[in-house]
Amino acid sequence: MKCCIVYASTHHGNTKKVVDAIAKEFEVELIDATQVQKKDLSEYDLIGFASGIYAAQFHQQVKNFAHENLPQGKKIFYIMTSAMNKDFSKSMADSVKDKNAEVVGKFTCHGYNTFGPFKLVGGTSKGHPDENDLTDAVEFFRNIIRVGRAE
Ligand SMILES: Cc1cc2nc3c(=O)[nH]c(=O)nc-3n(C[C@H](O)[C@H](O)[C@H](O)COP(=O)(O)O)c2cc1C
Repeated sequence: MKCCIVYASTHHGNTKKVVDAIAKEFEVELIDATQVQKKDLSEYDLIGFASGIYAAQFHQQVKNFAHENLPQGKKIFYIMTSAMNKDFSKSMADSVKDKNAEVVGKFTCHGYNTFGPFKLVGGTSKGHPDENDLTDAVEFFRNIIRVGRAE
């Protein structure tokens, strides 16, 4: 199963830590959407979109990348780090609509946040993603590919 993760991690590199942890354990190509705007993804069986969350949204360049490059009928998954550790993946909906993508999993964890006034109090979710978050992310990915292989 050939897999890539398209990511943007511009605040503290929190999301990058998560995708790096996965890429350390598995053969996964990482694509930085802030550097790469166009790529043929047809050879990938599984495509992840990973981002810090900014104003309740995936990074604009991850959204653009998906809109421009996601082929029809792919298995996709989402990874997000945020202050609130919530599922913000609906912010990707417009970018993947009409692509017949199957969402096979979502992973969220806290990410250190010093945006705006939070900086004054030393930030929130300090230390995250931590070792436990990274272990959970690796397990999340292991499960996805297990399911993918079984089909
Ligand atoms: C401009 C900005 C806006 C943010 N908006 C949100 C938000 O709406 N909800 C939230 O839970 N976290 C928000 N955060 C916190 C980030 O999602 C969090 O720190 C994330 O882990 C950053 O990931 P990164 O280091 O990979 O960029 C915001 C951070 C910044 C800098």
